[in-house]
Amino acid sequence: MIRYGGDYNPEQWPREVWDDDVVLMQRAGVNLATVAVFSWARLEPRPGEYDFGWLDEVLDGLHAGGIRVDLATATASPPPWLAKLHPETLPVTEDGVRLAVGSRQQYCPSSPVYRERARRLVQQMVDRYAAHPAVDLWHVNNEYGCHVARCYCEVSAEAFRGWLERRYGTVDELNRAWGTAFWSQRYDGFEEVEPPRAAPSFRNPTQLLDFDRFSSDELLACYRSEVEVIRAGSDLPITTNFMGFFKPVDYWAWAAEVDIVSDDTYPDPADPLSTPYAAMVRDLMRSLGAGAPWLLMEQSPSAVNWRARNAAKAPGQMRAWSYQAVARGADGILFFQWRQSAAGSEKFHSGMVPHGGTDTRVWREIEQLGGELASLSGASVGLEGGRVRTPVAIAVDWDSWWAIEQDASPTTVSYLEVLFAWHRALSALGHAVDFVRADADLSSYRVVVLPAQFVVTEAQAANLSDWADGGGTLVVGFATGVVDAELRVHLGGYLGGARLRRTLGIRVEEFTPPAGADLRAVGGGEPPPVPLAGEVLGGAATGSVWAEVVRADDAEVVAAFGGAGDRTAGGAADAAPAALPPGLPDGAPAVTRRGTGSGAAWYVATLPDEVALRALVAGIADDAGVDRPAPVATGGEVDAVRRGDVVVVINHGSEEAVLDLDGRDLLSGDAARGLVLGPQGVAVVGEVDEAVDAVE
Ligand code: GLA
Repeated sequence: MIRYGGDYNPEQWPREVWDDDVVLMQRAGVNLATVAVFSWARLEPRPGEYDFGWLDEVLDGLHAGGIRVDLATATASPPPWLAKLHPETLPVTEDGVRLAVGSRQQYCPSSPVYRERARRLVQQMVDRYAAHPAVDLWHVNNEYGCHVARCYCEVSAEAFRGWLERRYGTVDELNRAWGTAFWSQRYDGFEEVEPPRAAPSFRNPTQLLDFDRFSSDELLACYRSEVEVIRAGSDLPITTNFMGFFKPVDYWAWAAEVDIVSDDTYPDPADPLSTPYAAMVRDLMRSLGAGAPWLLMEQSPSAVNWRARNAAKAPGQMRAWSYQAVARGADGILFFQWRQSAAGSEKFHSGMVPHGGTDTRVWREIEQLGGELASLSGASVGLEGGRVRTPVAIAVDWDSWWAIEQDASPTTVSYLEVLFAWHRALSALGHAVDFVRADADLSSYRVVVLPAQFVVTEAQAANLSDWADGGGTLVVGFATGVVDAELRVHLGGYLGGARLRRTLGIRVEEFTPPAGADLRAVGGGEPPPVPLAGEVLGGAATGSVWAEVVRADDAEVVAAFGGAGDRTAGGAADAAPAALPPGLPDGAPAVTRRGTGSGAAWYVATLPDEVALRALVAGIADDAGVDRPAPVATGGEVDAVRRGDVVVVINHGSEEAVLDLDGRDLLSGDAARGLVLGPQGVAVVGEVDEAVDAVE
């Protein structure tokens, strides 16, 4: 059964509402409710005094109504008494400000007191509910790190020292790794080391990176500490909800420890790039679970309440974005939250049951989607549990994300925006895109891109080179392999060291990036992007964000800086003519290619504009012999993904699209060919014939 439901917070409502809730849930096709996410203060009103009666009633009521439960451990927001009793559990910012109660998530992840209190509560939950017939899934904490991802208090400092000692063994080794010979930072013992608190100027880069790693690990340790209690008393699967591309937490490390990946995604209806961005997030979630089905644990039925301006979703948009998740591997669509709150900080965040009740558009769309997902459930349909297969992947690496965005870098780069640019270009090939780690088994892919992977280890460089030699097409983007895992520079031309340099046939001499650009605008923003010339870019083009002086000693230069570039910023006729940044010779290599073994290795020394990047990716895919799926529709802005035995087709555009594939739309029952999809229209096409091969 495809899961459908949302966060259910009955403690915010009088008892008589609970029975209505179950009836309405049944009407909407809800089959999973996430309960008790923020219930700690209610479940343990005073230290060690528990009150489970109300939760018993809630779970029994849901069970009687046939609704399963994703039971939260309720540890995401400690009750006020914990701070009164143990003020040291409150987190401290890098500026030394201790955060107060009155909001949520006010705990230091390293606090042994917090962890112990959390475990005691989890023990109670497991003892009481592990065998409850409604409970299907454990939901540990909630959005780890959402508000407090790092704590700089004394307790955290001590934990950081322990983490460093385990990593480096001796302080001499730490001094070497951190390069403390620079600026007189030498430590004489671990007791001298502090978290990277607010400081006069640039803080030590490796200290910063290690603190990022430590902080992600500390949150993971909180998760593990709860999981240990659950596993000892329950065989049910366990999850914790991720937040898409969330910088503070390295989800590769976490993904191995959840039984099912789940994600919270809140695309902004007012942002035209929300749809492709959400596609990228869904692709990450599928990839974190190595292709296994995942759960969209939270999305909003309509508006959120935490942006400066909170746009409502357009009619049909919630449904279209839900199918986007299903198409890209989700076996569950859930919301925050079931009933829109009447009080509290999120009362203006939409709910499945809106303030306006059931005679509302939001409710009707909730009911419609619930009914549809029920009809698409089950193995015979060929959707639920189905896999998405793709020949293209992008490497993503949290170390690189953390490191390249540090202050003392060649320029300001948004790692995520660079990933997003490549994801959009690869998506234009018509395939979903997987995300991988650079040291993963890449054998199922034909093309793998490493965008701005600043940190490259020897093992990664060897894995990538071996894979390319064996027939893969490796595409390395600018700023890749500049440093190793200690942020020490790969001397002699960067690029992760000699092995990857040989594979690429180039070395990088110098960086000369243009100043930051708005990647969300085609052609870049201010200042003028750098001109590029090369057929592979579709002719004259521009680059932005970064530029490098590349020496192509053993590679073909397929596009160059300078030359015939004539696109100017944003394409505006009166924009300043594009110019090369200082130190970048006219004709310097911008894109190179080298055949290596039975594969190929490409290098891209800047971020080509959107049109050029698409042309480049198409050229690379052709060169690699990657099939391009035939379009499944004409008109509209259609996203089509083959999952399992079906093709999910969504029209995200404002014009009609007409389907151009055989098969049957399982939603309407109509033949697919010639079917008209209006804006936000969706078809789930089964009995696909030639389209199967075309889209695969
Ligand atoms: C997050 C949280 C929810 C709620 C929603 C909506 O996803 O997990 O508790 O706050 O955001 O804002």
